[in-house]
Amino acid sequence: MHREDEPASVSAALAQQIRQDIAAAGGWWPFDRFMAAALYMPGLGYYAHGGVKFGWSPESGSDFVTAPEISPLFGHTVAVQVAQVLDATGLAEVVEFGAGTGALAQQLLEALGDRCARYTIVELSASLRQRQQQRLAAFGERVRWVDALPEGIEGVVVGNEVLDAMPVQLLHWDGTQWLERGVAVDEWKFVFADRPTELRPPVEGPFVPGTVTEIHPQARAFIATLAEKLQRGAAFFIDYGFPEAEYYHPQRHGGTLMCHRAHQADTDPLSDVGLKDITAHVDFTGIALAGQDAGLDVLGYTSQGHFLMNCGLAERLAQAGVRERTMAQKLMQEHEMGELFKVIGFGRGLPEGFDPIGFVHGDRSHRL
Ligand SMILES: C[S@@+](CC[C@H](N)C(=O)[O-])C[C@H]1O[C@@H](n2cnc3c(N)ncnc32)[C@H](O)[C@@H]1O
Repeated sequence: MHREDEPASVSAALAQQIRQDIAAAGGWWPFDRFMAAALYMPGLGYYAHGGVKFGWSPESGSDFVTAPEISPLFGHTVAVQVAQVLDATGLAEVVEFGAGTGALAQQLLEALGDRCARYTIVELSASLRQRQQQRLAAFGERVRWVDALPEGIEGVVVGNEVLDAMPVQLLHWDGTQWLERGVAVDEWKFVFADRPTELRPPVEGPFVPGTVTEIHPQARAFIATLAEKLQRGAAFFIDYGFPEAEYYHPQRHGGTLMCHRAHQADTDPLSDVGLKDITAHVDFTGIALAGQDAGLDVLGYTSQGHFLMNCGLAERLAQAGVRERTMAQKLMQEHEMGELFKVIGFGRGLPEGFDPIGFVHGDRSHRL
């Protein structure tokens, strides 16, 4: 669907539904409920309707680009880490969360070949699932789609830019107390509205008066649930974010909430609801603790640049054509995606002494 067909009416219908739901809830919603509805309300939310979303330029009707869309070398290189776990364990299943256009799935399936007997995609969006089914048809019955976390996972789990799409709660420090920032309706417009709260950021501070920041209970709950289901194997999540000391640093007093539309970033999630992506950076300390508390080992934590280098991207680039090399370099360059994006790995039941290749150099687990 092109942007001109991406009807303002979808946005209007979504906004109307949210207004009704907020009224039914007594006039106020915590921000995470608003973000969940804006992104995932069936048929109407940003990820639920048929808009283009992923791509290179506004002309294509897209809003942002992700690593597997930038270069197939991304998935081909991540596959080195996935293959190492599969080989070491004798397992043959990959589970991907939030597969977008299916680009990463295609790249992993191509690179893993017969090593991957089953590729399971957990996708919340019916329209994205359809796109993935078309793209991955050639892989036949090896690929299957499920609506919820499968029970008893034995294999390798991957998720690129999934944690940043999970709804966050907003906290406001006014200089004397913490308030939860939620959403109310003023006539017909959505407005922020604060309420006193017992919620706190995971660090003591100090915080600058006026700070607005995020906490991530849904992402942590997601990792805890995944940990329960992951019986043997590993999980790798790639996303933008920091350890908590950086996340809640006084200099970051505006938080990290961001919207993306037509390749422009803005900080107003309350306008054009359903027509733009809403994201927050990942607190990787919280993610690591959620996994550890649920019994997973942290295999490593490093920048995307280091991870891809460790998995041999530089050697692949040496053999690539100029255009391919220019694109793929963006994945590693510090001022592009190489430093802001991180990779965290978890494991359970891996062989004694297993040394994950992606974290061989530059592991920063100690900074979490
Ligand atoms: C920014 S997109 C990234 C898509 C793709 N991985 C890529 O890199 O191009 C975020 C994706 O995460 C999905 N998502 C968010 N929460 C999820 C959850 N709890 N389970 C599965 N997918 C989820 C969304 O539906 C969406 O497809």
